[in-house]
Amino acid sequence: MEIVATVALLHLCLCATAAVSGSDSTETALTAAPGDIVLLPCYDIGNETPSLTTWMKNRQEIITSGGSSPNLSPAGQRLKVLRDGSLSITGVIPGDEGTYMCSSTLPGNNTFHARVLLQVTRGPVNISASIGPATALSNGTLIVYRGSTVFFNCSGSSYPSQQLTWTFRGASSSNGLVSLVSNSESWLDFRIEDIQPRAQGVYSCRANNTVSHQAANKSTQLLVYYVPDRHPECMWAPANDASHVQFICTWFGAYPPPTLRWGEDQGDHGAGWKESVYASEVTDSLSVTMNRSMLSDGQVLRCMAQHQALAQGKEKSCSFTLKPPYPEGEPLVTTIEATSLTLTCTEAVSIPPANTTWRKGLKQEVIVPGSKYVLSVEGPVFKLTILNISKDDEGVYFCRSENPLAVRELEVYLTVTTSSAHTGAIIGVFIAALIVGSATIIAKLAYSSRHRICLGDGFGQMEDSGDVLSLVDSDDEQIFQDAVPRLPPLTNGHHTTLVQIHRIPSSDHEDTETADTSPQQQEDTVQREEPVDLVTF
Ligand SMILES: *[C@@H]1O[C@H](CO)[C@@H](O)[C@H](O)[C@H]1NC(C)=O
Ligand SMILES: *[C@@H]1O[C@H](CO)[C@@H](O)[C@H](O)[C@H]1NC(C)=O
Ligand SMILES: *[C@@H]1O[C@H](CO)[C@@H](O)[C@H](O)[C@H]1NC(C)=O
Ligand SMILES: *[C@@H]1O[C@H](CO)[C@@H](O)[C@H](O)[C@H]1NC(C)=O
Ligand SMILES: *[C@@H]1O[C@H](CO)[C@@H](O)[C@H](O)[C@H]1NC(C)=O
Ligand SMILES: *[C@@H]1O[C@H](CO)[C@@H](O)[C@H](O)[C@H]1NC(C)=O
Ligand SMILES: *[C@@H]1O[C@H](CO)[C@@H](O)[C@H](O)[C@H]1NC(C)=O
Ligand SMILES: *[C@@H]1O[C@H](CO)[C@@H](O)[C@H](O)[C@H]1NC(C)=O
Ligand SMILES: *[C@@H]1O[C@H](CO)[C@@H](O)[C@H](O)[C@H]1NC(C)=O
Repeated sequence: MEIVATVALLHLCLCATAAVSGSDSTETALTAAPGDIVLLPCYDIGNETPSLTTWMKNRQEIITSGGSSPNLSPAGQRLKVLRDGSLSITGVIPGDEGTYMCSSTLPGNNTFHARVLLQVTRGPVNISASIGPATALSNGTLIVYRGSTVFFNCSGSSYPSQQLTWTFRGASSSNGLVSLVSNSESWLDFRIEDIQPRAQGVYSCRANNTVSHQAANKSTQLLVYYVPDRHPECMWAPANDASHVQFICTWFGAYPPPTLRWGEDQGDHGAGWKESVYASEVTDSLSVTMNRSMLSDGQVLRCMAQHQALAQGKEKSCSFTLKPPYPEGEPLVTTIEATSLTLTCTEAVSIPPANTTWRKGLKQEVIVPGSKYVLSVEGPVFKLTILNISKDDEGVYFCRSENPLAVRELEVYLTVTTSSAHTGAIIGVFIAALIVGSATIIAKLAYSSRHRICLGDGFGQMEDSGDVLSLVDSDDEQIFQDAVPRLPPLTNGHHTTLVQIHRIPSSDHEDTETADTSPQQQEDTVQREEPVDLVTF
């Protein structure tokens, strides 16, 4: 606007070009803007003063010097013939353009003619580059979202006519200059359907007055925001020690970078979510390290991505539900000497994944693969193969699973017999002994609670206190003692035998367990059980 106003004032100093045509006439072209005072010259060759000057516009007389104008239009008040015969127009208006002719009578009865072409031009003014629908940033930059349809409208006002041009300069050099031109329109519009990031750049709307060639422009930076269709990705990575874990959330392909938050789901969705935000950052990859004291079974950790291109309430997220490890397998294994044996342990539920290792003996020494032991992993199944079994291999083995939530162990007794002939009988006798001894053994339950019974810290205490249990030491039933696995002597020299016998769940529990109990519910039930029942005979 300012530029345009200045341009209008500059017209006061007229861009006149005069050409003499013949001895007694001149022709001049003038350009003026509305509101200007313009002076149309007549006789400007000599310095005589004409006695009479008549001005005609488009072959009609409009004013005569010395006398009143024959044409008493309101325009007459703006017109004045000066002493030298030139015509002054005060406050030019659109419509004043045309071909003006003057005839002046000079002393000596000479007549002089002059022709003046007057152009009235205005503008361009009120240039507007409107782009929408779009959101404006504080610096005037506009934002649109990928895939939307965007309308562009360049408008301006010029008199008598204008040329409008849209030009586009892409953000990257590969996007060249594109332009769209229209002639003599008051606006120039186009639209982009399904707008893409490559349409990001600076759009300029320019208006060029077709007569004065004055031009004005307006530029707007347009940003195309977008987000990927997919959800963020939630991952985990082991931290320095097993009680810590690093949760990583990534969401690449959003522009500009999104805000990622790591938090915890609390009951009903959304409402209380923000209260337990662990980390929040403008980034496409956010990681948070958490320790055991902050984690619990069933906790739902969620990473939420927020972005301007996602409607409110349409945030994208990923999550996982933490689960402690739960190694499963056969708790009692019998084999014969000089064979190979593979113990298997399945760890399928741990979230985040557990570090599962095979250990041997009450001290839980980590089993190192070698000529004696072969370790293998097939998906969730961890196998320990013991080669060339001897009586020394008899004892307790542990499949120990640890994740940042908890440590749990599967305990496996290995019984080694000298010949296959006795195996069946011994197993049968062993089972019978247990039934007699406790009256209630349910193998599944025994195994379910194993990790609470005699593992972890308990062992340290056992070592201190010496004998934990003496099992089945009845004089008349020697065979039972043979059948019961004997653990290796402890360092303090006491001979210790350990057994685990589990109580049948109370009738309450059985009542609540329905036939179609899901695995999840079953696990919960098991964990609520009274975990330890050590029975001494
Ligand atoms: C001037 O010329 C006009 C015609 O061209 C004539 O009628 C008039 O009488 C002349 N006047 C003088 C003073 O010579
Ligand atoms: C330019 O815009 C102003 C304010 O919006 C308005 O008053 C004026 O009439 C416009 N001029 C033209 C030539 O359209
Ligand atoms: C306006 O702000 C946005 C975001 O802050 C920035 O990317 C852009 O370059 C700015 N535009 C101009 C013209 O300063
Ligand atoms: C473009 O803008 C002009 C001036 O604001 C308006 O008169 C015209 O209707 C608009 N054209 C379109 C297609 O919106
Ligand atoms: C206006 O248009 C004319 C003719 O197309 C061109 O010569 C002139 O450079 C343009 N003026 C501006 C300022 O772009
Ligand atoms: C817009 O106008 C400015 C001066 O006002 C000029 O420097 C610039 O080159 C123009 N841009 C276009 C695209 O015409
Ligand atoms: C676990 O993290 C919390 C919060 O960062 C901290 O207060 C606590 O001391 C940490 N506990 C351990 C055992 O590192
Ligand atoms: C798993 O545990 C063993 C022994 O505790 C350790 O040496 C190993 O580095 C752990 N592995 C991972 C992936 O943490
Ligand atoms: C198996 O073990 C016995 C003793 O434990 C040993 O004498 C024998 O050489 C071993 N056999 C193989 C094939 O390793």
